[in-house]
Amino acid sequence: MAVYGGASFYVFSGTGNSLRVARWAAARAGIAGCAARVSSLTDTRPRDIPTGPDSLIGLFMPTHGFTAPFKIISFAARMPRGRGTHAFVVATRAGTKFGKLFLPGMEGTAAYLIAAILALKGYSVRGVAGIDMPSNWTALHPGFSEKNARAIIGRARPKADGFIDSILAGRRAFRGFVCLALGIALAPISAGYLIYGRFMLAKLFFADNRCNGCGICARDCPNHAIRMLGKKRPRPYWTFSCESCMRCMGYCPEAAVQAGHSWAVIVYFITAIPFAQYLLNLMVTYLTGAQAIRGTWAMTVIQYPFFLVSLAAAYALFYLLTRIPAVNAVFAYTTLTRAYRRYHEPDTGIKELGRKIK
Ligand SMILES: Cc1cc2nc3c(=O)[nH]c(=O)nc-3n(C[C@H](O)[C@H](O)[C@H](O)COP(=O)(O)O)c2cc1C
Ligand code: SF4
Ligand code: SF4
Repeated sequence: MAVYGGASFYVFSGTGNSLRVARWAAARAGIAGCAARVSSLTDTRPRDIPTGPDSLIGLFMPTHGFTAPFKIISFAARMPRGRGTHAFVVATRAGTKFGKLFLPGMEGTAAYLIAAILALKGYSVRGVAGIDMPSNWTALHPGFSEKNARAIIGRARPKADGFIDSILAGRRAFRGFVCLALGIALAPISAGYLIYGRFMLAKLFFADNRCNGCGICARDCPNHAIRMLGKKRPRPYWTFSCESCMRCMGYCPEAAVQAGHSWAVIVYFITAIPFAQYLLNLMVTYLTGAQAIRGTWAMTVIQYPFFLVSLAAAYALFYLLTRIPAVNAVFAYTTLTRAYRRYHEPDTGIKELGRKIK
């Protein structure tokens, strides 16, 4: 007899890995006699999540920057009070394969952070796991060949099934303590990723001259983060809502989405201009005591709005420049992503993923 009356699984998935794992879990739940529904987390209002002591809630997501993507953190924080509802968390992570060697990814604090939020909200957390799926970070490295991707996915399935079977049988299953310890040690990097990195990465994307303006990237972005600008020749413009999930890059039919590596170098120097320092020098002339903030955290707080504003302004200019085919070609041929293979979970089409999971 099933331990739970019903199960609802919520997924944030850029390129289909986390969705695949959620579907495996739903299949196992069906076998265990517990009907499970898989929904897109980005299309669910947190308050609509069904709670109750015989319900099982599962959250599935990728790891970003050794922690959970901001979207999931804010979603979990807005979920209703758990009142004993059972829950578990799965973070997929960057499994890799070199020759015959399979290497695990590192989910760090991703799954336990979300589990902690759920526990604080009164959920009965039944388990936490990290599952190695093929790394999808194709802004950083070439995607795996289909053969290698399938090999990594083939190894992930028994691990995922074993984990979900334990949960469905009413047992607790907490995995990944070593990753958690490493994640805590790397917490400053994760914080840097959430505060700076994800905004910076969003503003590296551009469409090269192969873009035909079809708008698929904007239509299917889970975060509504792309705007198509230009009436005659629409081209995607990436906003700060981008979570670098890699869907637009993985599914663009023309492989036109690039992460500008040469542009990243320019962006780094623009955003590193010591604005707070200039401001302080100015303040010292007019404000006695202003000197006291030199070298304190207040400098970082003052610098942060400059970081965001200068990044947004530089990107707006970059976007306009990349509309000029010759300039576009310069940036396209000075990024490694132009040569990288794209990645998405081999059996997951964009229609299945879309904004609403079908
Ligand atoms: C921006 C970004 C950051 C990532 N950071 C990590 C990480 O810190 N550790 C890790 O193991 N995998 C990391 N990955 C890999 C993904 O978590 C992994 O491939 C995941 O399975 C993708 O799932 P999805 O297709 O459902 O989005 C990262 C991927 C991206 C795009
Ligand atoms: S970047 Fe790709 S998906 Fe987006 S509009 Fe251009 S061709 Fe279409
Ligand atoms: S813009 Fe692209 S990478 Fe960013 S969230 Fe949307 S689909 Fe993902």
